[in-house]
Amino acid sequence: MAIFEKRENAASASTDTSDTPYNRAVLGFRNYWYPALPEHDIGGRPKRMILLGEPIAFVRRGKKVYAVQDECPHRGARMSLGKDEFPGTDTLACRFHGWTFDLRNGACVAALTDGPDSPVVGKVRIRTFPTEQRNGVVFVWMGRGAPAPLEEDIPALLLRPDASLKVRYRQVYGNWRHHAEGSAGGHFFMLHRDAIALQLHKLGQGNSSHSSELQERCPTDNRMYLLETSKDFNWEQKFGKLGFWPPTRPWRLIKPPNRRAARGTSTEVEGIKYIGISLPGYLRVRHFPKNGAVYYEWYIAINEDHYLYMQISAHFPRNIIHRAWITLWYNLWAGPMRKGHFNDQDKSMVRDNTNFEKRMGQHKPTPLYQPDLFPRMWIEMCNQYARGEGWLVTGKEAAERAKTEIPVYAGG
Ligand code: FES
Ligand SMILES: [Fe+2]
Repeated sequence: MAIFEKRENAASASTDTSDTPYNRAVLGFRNYWYPALPEHDIGGRPKRMILLGEPIAFVRRGKKVYAVQDECPHRGARMSLGKDEFPGTDTLACRFHGWTFDLRNGACVAALTDGPDSPVVGKVRIRTFPTEQRNGVVFVWMGRGAPAPLEEDIPALLLRPDASLKVRYRQVYGNWRHHAEGSAGGHFFMLHRDAIALQLHKLGQGNSSHSSELQERCPTDNRMYLLETSKDFNWEQKFGKLGFWPPTRPWRLIKPPNRRAARGTSTEVEGIKYIGISLPGYLRVRHFPKNGAVYYEWYIAINEDHYLYMQISAHFPRNIIHRAWITLWYNLWAGPMRKGHFNDQDKSMVRDNTNFEKRMGQHKPTPLYQPDLFPRMWIEMCNQYARGEGWLVTGKEAAERAKTEIPVYAGG
């Protein structure tokens, strides 16, 4: 994809309001599996979430987690307020008038306030969303029609039986696309320089030649990635009369794990060498939040101005002691300081990007300087490869509905 030759068209790119899949995807790309929650956050009482503008009630019956539209077809009461009136069955009763639905297929199986022979039984259905549970995480299919195989959408490393997954999630202000666009492409050595977790790390200037490459199928994760493959890494550079940057700090001695190998070549984890982004909107980083781990973060639209920031890292403990060490390190340091404080720096930029976009009146995919190659190629990747036309279905209607509520999510 020789998109970078288009640099002279920067002005038109920055005001691109054309009717493309990416420009339409205010609420994300629908025809995909998404991670929704850690399994342990869902019990017998339903939990309401809004994903891609759709209100969904997640509820557990036995080992199985179900997802149904959080809106009773009778008068729209929230199913997340519903009751388990028939314990031992996979049903959920609406709290208002007691229409009771089979969670497996959405069929109305009773109308409690109308008696056992109620004529609505068998004639009404609530929408169900297919779910799968793997390695302690609940995944949900947000598309219409039959779901794609989970393995097509979720990175293979996360599904590996020996992977230990650590999940952190929260609701964030901003449109999801800004986080995707800004996830790589040159900010690391500037924005994250003052992160608490990096105070002792030797951080360089960055790369003087920027490149991104489309990898059609990553052998490790069995998915398409846009990789940031920038070269010519510099620890410092002279900026004319301004002098050298970054300044030397004697206490910054630790080299990041991806720079420890000789002459700036990166060390791999599970065959993964570069930072990369994939559809429908998640980033993959190796050696994060802990050396040897692989980290994924999804940006899942809630409504136009909020998204679920879902952070899942895969760790590979060698034995029970190593597992305990990973958990201790993660809970005390990597979780709060890396997935928390460090990634909150990215989050704060998304807030500003979103407000900037609102003021400018349109989605604005970055006037170009060299590192913007990454977001430009990401947008093109979405336009070329996003699955299906499902994003057209939700459109304004769901956006309007979702505007009325700003949910607060946090966990992990
Ligand atoms: S609104 Fe659900 S049963 Fe009436
Ligand atoms: Fe970042």
